[in-house]
Amino acid sequence: MDMKGTTALIEVRDIDGAATKDLRRRVLRNHIPGLPADAPSDDFPDTWHLGAFRDGHLLGVVTGFSEEAPGHPGVRAQRFRFMAVEPSAQGSGVGSTLIRQVIERARSGGDRLLWANGRDTALDFYTGLGFEAVGEMFTDPLSLLPHHVVLLRL
Ligand SMILES: CC(C)(COP(=O)(O)OP(=O)(O)OC[C@H]1O[C@@H](n2cnc3c(N)ncnc32)[C@H](O)[C@@H]1OP(=O)(O)O)[C@@H](O)C(=O)NCCC(=O)NCCS
Repeated sequence: MDMKGTTALIEVRDIDGAATKDLRRRVLRNHIPGLPADAPSDDFPDTWHLGAFRDGHLLGVVTGFSEEAPGHPGVRAQRFRFMAVEPSAQGSGVGSTLIRQVIERARSGGDRLLWANGRDTALDFYTGLGFEAVGEMFTDPLSLLPHHVVLLRL
């Protein structure tokens, strides 16, 4: 099923954490077998999970919660993790639609900053949405991939 180039509308809505796991595993954990696809932050009291659907198919997921951004103590911030888009749908607007909803959610909730540990392979995606890559590159201890903090002032 190739979703690229489709013009069908993307609908974003809250989903259960359990519904994020399949995309997380296939998209973010495919390079190291057995790597966990969850984290304690999945169960924080204010954790939310968003899903992006096209024609009823779940094509993208992201999870977020309140956490101060590195270097910005005392500033209300929202962090997101586990951003994953179905491989056949990548590049067709699913991820940017999801992030725009995340931005709206954080802004309307009173947060001043939105941030994530972004894979270097996705940095252009984030900067294209207005994020800046801040600080030094670091290797994520679980995925073993190079990352930067990506930060958006709301
Ligand atoms: C990175 C990812 C979330 C982006 O979602 P997506 O649905 O593919 O992105 P979109 O189609 O909304 O693309 C929006 C823009 O970003 C660009 N873009 C998307 N992925 C990109 C990437 N990895 N590198 C550079 N640019 C990218 C697109 O070309 C598009 O540019 P345009 O507006 O000039 O056309 C998705 O490709 C993905 O899941 N990748 C693998 C897992 C991953 O890296 N997750 C992020 C971990 S931090």
